[in-house]
Amino acid sequence: MPPVATRNMPGEPDIAAYRAAISHFATGVTVVTASSADGPAGLTANAVCSLSLEPLLMIVCLDLGSRTLQVVRRARRLAVNVLARDQQELAASFASKAPEAEKFRGVGWRELDGAPVLDGVVAWLVGEVRELLPGGDHVIGVAEVSSVGAPGGEPLVYYRGGYHSLAS
Ligand SMILES: Cc1cc2nc3c(=O)[nH]c(=O)nc-3n(C[C@H](O)[C@H](O)[C@H](O)COP(=O)(O)O)c2cc1C
Repeated sequence: MPPVATRNMPGEPDIAAYRAAISHFATGVTVVTASSADGPAGLTANAVCSLSLEPLLMIVCLDLGSRTLQVVRRARRLAVNVLARDQQELAASFASKAPEAEKFRGVGWRELDGAPVLDGVVAWLVGEVRELLPGGDHVIGVAEVSSVGAPGGEPLVYYRGGYHSLAS
């Protein structure tokens, strides 16, 4: 991949420059899920990180326009599903605006500790939403982790706008 030209930006960087720079921060790929009376909801998210050990807190940043945020606001519980390398199709599907029922069609999942956990993930973390803080066009969700699992396997990686494996 060609390098992005180095630019000194004493002024305000524009959105394209910001995205190009932050895209070098390689991340895993997760599907953040929550439950509602109408069924499960979920979106692909990489703005996820660990926050605290005492208490156990994680951060999930959710777009104000996402339907999943509406479900998280009501459920006050969510699951972070860390995708495996062979789950790229799931990442694409959960990043879409397809109806929620369609996103989950053919996808194995089970409710664990009050949130939907997807089959085949390398790890999952379920937590109770403690805070939904303002963060520009996103909401910074802080969740207290109440159960986790780590079946393991190779994770899916997101880097410079594309999906990768650790080896690639
Ligand atoms: C690799 C990747 C990472 C993403 N990360 C986030 C994220 O951290 N937070 C977020 O709100 N949306 C993120 N999105 C966008 C959502 O997945 C997308 O807006 C989705 O359509 C929202 O679905 P919903 O409206 O059904 O909740 C990401 C998309 C991709 C492809």
